Amino acid sequence: MSADDDKRFAAEAAVAEVRSGMVVGLGTGSTAAHMIRALGRMVAEGLDIDTVATSVASAELARSLGIRVHDFADVPRVDLTIDGADETDDRLLVVKGAGGAMLREKCVAAASTRMIVIADGAKRVPAIGAARVPVEVLPFARGFVMRILAERADPALRMAGGEPYRTDQDMLVVDCLFGDLSDPHDAAAWLQAIPGVLGHGLFLTEVDAAYLATDGVVTKLERAVDRDQ
Ligand code: A5P
Repeated sequence: MSADDDKRFAAEAAVAEVRSGMVVGLGTGSTAAHMIRALGRMVAEGLDIDTVATSVASAELARSLGIRVHDFADVPRVDLTIDGADETDDRLLVVKGAGGAMLREKCVAAASTRMIVIADGAKRVPAIGAARVPVEVLPFARGFVMRILAERADPALRMAGGEPYRTDQDMLVVDCLFGDLSDPHDAAAWLQAIPGVLGHGLFLTEVDAAYLATDGVVTKLERAVDRDQ
């Protein structure tokens, strides 16, 4: 069984939480694409949902499958968001953004009553920190932000086709490797305080549950306490 099969199993388990009448947040990435395809099949069979997407790619995929997608600017509240992850520990401290969509993903997650991550089991780690943390950066401030990031996090400007990678909102991504991520809340606060940093891939309070599949077996982790407490 391949990792992609496990991504699909996790996605198909998670969509069982979707009900008609919900506003659903659509994540980004290869696992989220499985989820969107599963929702497309459910919509074709009569599921009645409204959605917002965390990337242009996810919006296009959803629309191509007949799923109603709204502009997030018009949607103040989301019932349930399902998205991928790059790393998660059992406390649901999560790293996201390998696909570069972490800023929109964070906005949609924050607007959501419930957020679920879906992944193959290799993404489950004892402690987050081996994966680089993507940071979205205003191009105007690139030099300054890179200098500050170098104090703690070995910044690497993400490239694509020989050019700096650009997000859906035409910003840069700097992938950061923290020498010590034992206090991710401190790292997140430090990142967020740098002028020119627009967002980052540390999701420390947003995720309520995870569906993680290994060799076809899906494990569900649920946050122990309400994230708003
Ligand atoms: C997109 O920016 C990311 O947050 C993805 O959700 C994450 O990288 C997981 O992607 P895959 O499902 O493709 O592994």
